[in-house]
Amino acid sequence: MGERILVLDAGTTSTRAMLFGADGVLHHVAQRALTQHYPRPGWVEHDPGEIWQRTLACAREVVEKAGGAEAVAAIGITNQRETVVAWDRNTGEPLTRAIVWQDRRTADVCGKLREVVHEAEIQRRTGLVLDPYFSGTKMRWLMDNDAAVRAAAERKALALGTVESWLVFKLSGGTFVSDASNASRTLLLPLDGAQFDAGLCDLIGVPHTALAHVVDTHGTLAETNAEVFGRAIPVCGLAGDQQAATVGQGCLSPGETKATYGTGAFVLTNQGDVLPRSEHRLLGTVLTQREGVRRYALEGSVFVAGSLVQWLRDSLGLISAAAETEALARSIPDSGGVTIVPALSGLGAPHWQADARGVIAGLSFASGRAQIARAALEAMAHQTHDLAEAFAADGAAWQTLRIDGGMSANDWMAQDLADMLSVIVERPDFVETTALGAAMLAAVGVGTHASLEDAARAMRGKVRRFEPEMAASTRDERLARWRKALAAV
Ligand code: G3P
Repeated sequence: MGERILVLDAGTTSTRAMLFGADGVLHHVAQRALTQHYPRPGWVEHDPGEIWQRTLACAREVVEKAGGAEAVAAIGITNQRETVVAWDRNTGEPLTRAIVWQDRRTADVCGKLREVVHEAEIQRRTGLVLDPYFSGTKMRWLMDNDAAVRAAAERKALALGTVESWLVFKLSGGTFVSDASNASRTLLLPLDGAQFDAGLCDLIGVPHTALAHVVDTHGTLAETNAEVFGRAIPVCGLAGDQQAATVGQGCLSPGETKATYGTGAFVLTNQGDVLPRSEHRLLGTVLTQREGVRRYALEGSVFVAGSLVQWLRDSLGLISAAAETEALARSIPDSGGVTIVPALSGLGAPHWQADARGVIAGLSFASGRAQIARAALEAMAHQTHDLAEAFAADGAAWQTLRIDGGMSANDWMAQDLADMLSVIVERPDFVETTALGAAMLAAVGVGTHASLEDAARAMRGKVRRFEPEMAASTRDERLARWRKALAAV
């Protein structure tokens, strides 16, 4: 048996398979886009059959390139979190479309819950706030509104799970598990409870019997059906993509912080074994779990990051490729007073305004493509700055910020982050830290490395540093403009 780790990274806009060596070297990649369904404003859906088929096609392509399943020691899976899949446990077939994490349809359900329960109590138990972002109210919505889901529940055949759970079920031919990092995004798992909680399920309106068994993030967690790759392969790592990126960035000690700029932007600070308690509207989440022992993180989730640049490209036609934004931003000394609040699917942390919508403020006849593109990039540092203030107020100020994700390749944005946050920003040369983190978890889970610290030493590469150099007056002017625009959403 080989030593390669097969990572399946089922993201929001695409799904990928990647093959890593035990030294962290990436050998092969396959990628397929996912169809985004927007049936109504604020709704976002995926086809679970497509997620499975395209992930499988990528995995088979990579396994073939590697010379067959014999080369693979273990599989690590990482995924878009909170997205809910409903399927029939007997047939293994999806019952309806998946409700994606960005979907806002349960804002009303959250409002009603706020009338019957103290949000602070929910946050104390689960680390989360009552926002449509999380899986629990999406599951409730399916129970209330989808006849096929209700009928499956009555037949005792309903499975409700997040994307890693769905993929493991399909790969294994029926193992129904969810890892603690993904499970901690549902509102149904107490931060200090091993399994989904029946009382929380009753409160939110989710049948406890439809939920998976909660397992570790690394260890022997499941096994693929031999028919899938021609040989059974153990699944030894499972984690939500943001937790995996935190591991991939080597943020393994308390205080170490990463920010991933993908579809959204997600900042996680390692909290060690201390239960995260935010007084400033941040989230507490499970980072890893090994033999039932948890490590936690404090998280700030921003819903729109790279998706803003995509929107400039696909909906406005302002640019033809995301990478153009860097040259456009550099072509002018400032945004000419243009400020974008990217609340295209509400505002996440620390504001939590589900019905906020985006704003482009400060337009004049002098505003053109360059000003709007620059304002879009500036918005990343502005949103991150709001998180930085909340983390500091919670006693978790950042010493340095380790960035990754597709947008972090933009040097202008990386420098702007260092400038606006007044911290050193570090970016690894290899920015696929989500996949690397899943590979590290699986490598430890299968026993190739003894600990995540060992895996980090063996598998992580070099980093580039960006030092703050902006004048305080420029920063203050930018933040004043940002706060004014924010007040208008
Ligand atoms: O919580 C949502 C997050 O997991 C989505 O991540 O990388 O698809 O933006 P990404």
